Amino acid sequence: MGNRPIKIAIDGPAASGKSTTARELARRLGYLYIDSGAMYRAVTLKALKQGIPTTDAAEMARLAQTCRIEFRPDSRKTVVLLDGEDVSEAIRSPEVNGHINPVAANPRVREILVKKQQELGRQGGVVMDGRDIGTVVFPDAELKIYMEASAEERARRRWRELRSKGVEIDFQQVYREILTRDKSDCTRDHGPLRKAPDAIMLDTTHLTIPEQVEKIYRLAIRKIREQDP
Ligand code: C5P
Repeated sequence: MGNRPIKIAIDGPAASGKSTTARELARRLGYLYIDSGAMYRAVTLKALKQGIPTTDAAEMARLAQTCRIEFRPDSRKTVVLLDGEDVSEAIRSPEVNGHINPVAANPRVREILVKKQQELGRQGGVVMDGRDIGTVVFPDAELKIYMEASAEERARRRWRELRSKGVEIDFQQVYREILTRDKSDCTRDHGPLRKAPDAIMLDTTHLTIPEQVEKIYRLAIRKIREQDP
């Protein structure tokens, strides 16, 4: 592409289609994809494995500091290594979902993981998704997208995804979990989910994944062309 590689920040609520869109976008651009949520998930998993309560703020900060989280490029899924072990599936378990909120709300953990994220994206050529990427991690990102979709549509997507994996779960339960996660994401004191003032809002309620990717891809190409004229 020849031009200077840029940073692309994609934020939005749970199940808004961020990860699938960000991964495909990164593949098309030849960029690195970083799933920042996977890092909060990995620290949570490590605590569960060691029997440490995720509400123990000091111990959680120690775990975040000492664990090694790596990403392996893969076009179909995000391969996440925790201290060298493939935890790509394990970090998505209901147990991790149930214990992650205090980890995401822990200011020391956030500070440590934000530094790791900034380090991973320092060179540019990166697509990172999460909640605070455009506001805290890369306030200087050349392209910021805020993805939205109604809570009902997001719950429907998550429910279908779980069903396709053979998980029998009631739609109302998935919907309630989405609302709970939205509340804790938006109301925490540190790194809350918020649209950066310069982020482009993309409502995906009526869009398919290829349509979302195409829209952001076009914006990215325009931004990349604007660099170093
Ligand atoms: O995006 P995902 O659902 O995998 O994120 C898992 C958890 O990590 C969420 O509960 C969210 O609050 C938290 N998270 C965060 N900051 C980020 C990304 C995710 O607090 N940048």
